[in-house]
Amino acid sequence: MEPLTSLDLVVAEKQAIATDIVRLVLRHPEGQMLPGAEPGAHIALDLDGCVRRYSLLHTGPALDHYSVAVLRTAQSQGGSHFVHDQLAVGDQLRVLELANEFALQPDAPHALLIGGGIGITPLLSMVEHLQQQEQSFALHQIVHDATRQWPLAPGLPAQTHIGRSSLDLPGLLAAQVPGSQVYVCGPAGLVGAVRAAAEQLGWAKERIHSESFGAAANASDSPLRVTLVQSGLSIDVEPGQSLLDALLAAGAWTGYECRRGVCGACLTEVVSGTPIHRDSIAPALRGNAMCTCVSWAEGPDLALNL
Ligand code: FES
Repeated sequence: MEPLTSLDLVVAEKQAIATDIVRLVLRHPEGQMLPGAEPGAHIALDLDGCVRRYSLLHTGPALDHYSVAVLRTAQSQGGSHFVHDQLAVGDQLRVLELANEFALQPDAPHALLIGGGIGITPLLSMVEHLQQQEQSFALHQIVHDATRQWPLAPGLPAQTHIGRSSLDLPGLLAAQVPGSQVYVCGPAGLVGAVRAAAEQLGWAKERIHSESFGAAANASDSPLRVTLVQSGLSIDVEPGQSLLDALLAAGAWTGYECRRGVCGACLTEVVSGTPIHRDSIAPALRGNAMCTCVSWAEGPDLALNL
């Protein structure tokens, strides 16, 4: 993929796709072609001063547009609310980055794609590519309620599941042909469940690919005592719980959007302690802050400027 410094594009379409989800189509103002992208890639957009990353819905070696889907989140610091409430067709947006941290592995006998909620978006470009290459795949989308499901084309080898309990993950994984690869994107709980089920069935780690919303604990993580220096609160957080969820539960006001360490909305200044960064934000952009949605810290103490 070509490196991209910045690119000013125009909003050519803005369309509601499902409850709280809009799709944006961005084109070059003079109709020029855009740098190509591989399946699973994302772009970073400057949304009125907030930098947010969104998976591309379509990818390819040459693109005449970029399209992304934006979910309205309750506690947005401007990114998703700006897109939903202010951005209009004809407005200009700056693309700051084009990157891929969730790439498809070539030549697998079968790809099993599992998307939870808005986590389906990087899988859509994979579906497009696998169809073009006539490669075997199946897509499973999991949503809380039917109004939030992504409208999938008829005839696609895809199923929609309302609620996670309606999908038998161990049974699904056990039925895959040998050598299959699984790609899962969604909340940390879903990603963890897929990983656990696959590993229990003996799948090698290299065959399991994921992007998650929220924290996924490492075995070496230890409990944290987090001090919020502005509010004077002190909270205990156990490994496996996201710092972001713990902060919200404690009543701290902190923004968030993607919950998977890509948008930067939850970046919080670290006052003391040593963060273990698990986001995909460039260190220069992150500065002296950490993404509470996915990152952890060397225990036991961490102080945040909240
Ligand atoms: S909410 Fe997007 S990086 Fe944390």
